[in-house]
Amino acid sequence: MDLKLAGLRAVVTGGSSGIGAAIVRVLAEEGCDVYFCARGQASVHAAQADCATLPGRVQGVSLDVSDAGRVQQWFSALGAFDIFIPNVSALSANWDDAIATDIRATVATTEAAIPFLASSANAAITYIGSKAGSLAAPNSAAYGAAKAAMAHYMKSLALRLLPSIRVNTVSPGDTLVEGGFWDKVRAQEPATYQQVQQRNPLGRLASPQEIARVVAFVSSPAASFVAGANWYVDGGSVAHVQI
Ligand SMILES: NC(=O)c1ccc[n+]([C@@H]2O[C@H](COP(=O)([O-])OP(=O)(O)OC[C@H]3O[C@@H](n4cnc5c(N)ncnc54)[C@H](OP(=O)(O)O)[C@@H]3O)[C@@H](O)[C@H]2O)c1
Repeated sequence: MDLKLAGLRAVVTGGSSGIGAAIVRVLAEEGCDVYFCARGQASVHAAQADCATLPGRVQGVSLDVSDAGRVQQWFSALGAFDIFIPNVSALSANWDDAIATDIRATVATTEAAIPFLASSANAAITYIGSKAGSLAAPNSAAYGAAKAAMAHYMKSLALRLLPSIRVNTVSPGDTLVEGGFWDKVRAQEPATYQQVQQRNPLGRLASPQEIARVVAFVSSPAASFVAGANWYVDGGSVAHVQI
């Protein structure tokens, strides 16, 4: 199947590591030109260099999505694009962090992106949520609540922007990112890590690539009738029926 991503322009926030970096790579492998941001300059350069030989052009910039002025400058410098993927999370159980980054900055960045998608015939916004948005978890209530709020906002945004822009959420399950949260649990709390593997019916965590491939499809013209959806890529770990 041709995803018809070649020649399109995508913008990914938080693209220097983990799921975001995998999304950048998969889109560029499909011939999409990809522009991404992250705060750390060195990791931005490294991620960009890592994609230098892919069919699509990859260009990173160092900025914090909480800085609305810098985000606006970045978008203005890029001009029109086709795909926007808000991927940044504070990954925090702290309410102030979750509200500031996962909600306020994500809504502001998404609203700022909309005018730049307006001229595309294949416009899509794909928000990176989490299965945590639909699971009660006393030790990370702020994170889950923010993900639930954003999936709700994205659904409303889909109804507001269709038929011009398709808006969807992709909700990953437990994903093993090198140097990330679960990697640290694996190293420091092997018993807990084993429990996390066992709660996944596939007996393992996802790789970032397994999430990124779904994101690339949902964001692509090949998914032209997918809108207002929330796709769980959780290896069957959420037992409730998603209606
Ligand atoms: N890993 C999982 O198990 C899992 C499961 C479900 C959902 N998710 C979701 O997937 C997304 C990515 O998670 P991940 O695990 O891949 O995280 P990650 O490996 O920590 O990567 C996060 C990326 O975002 C950048 N970033 C963080 N804060 C930023 C900010 N304020 N402004 C700009 N860039 C920023 C980071 O670079 P800098 O630090 O240099 O800025 C990095 O490039 C998140 O939305 C998360 O909630 C992850």
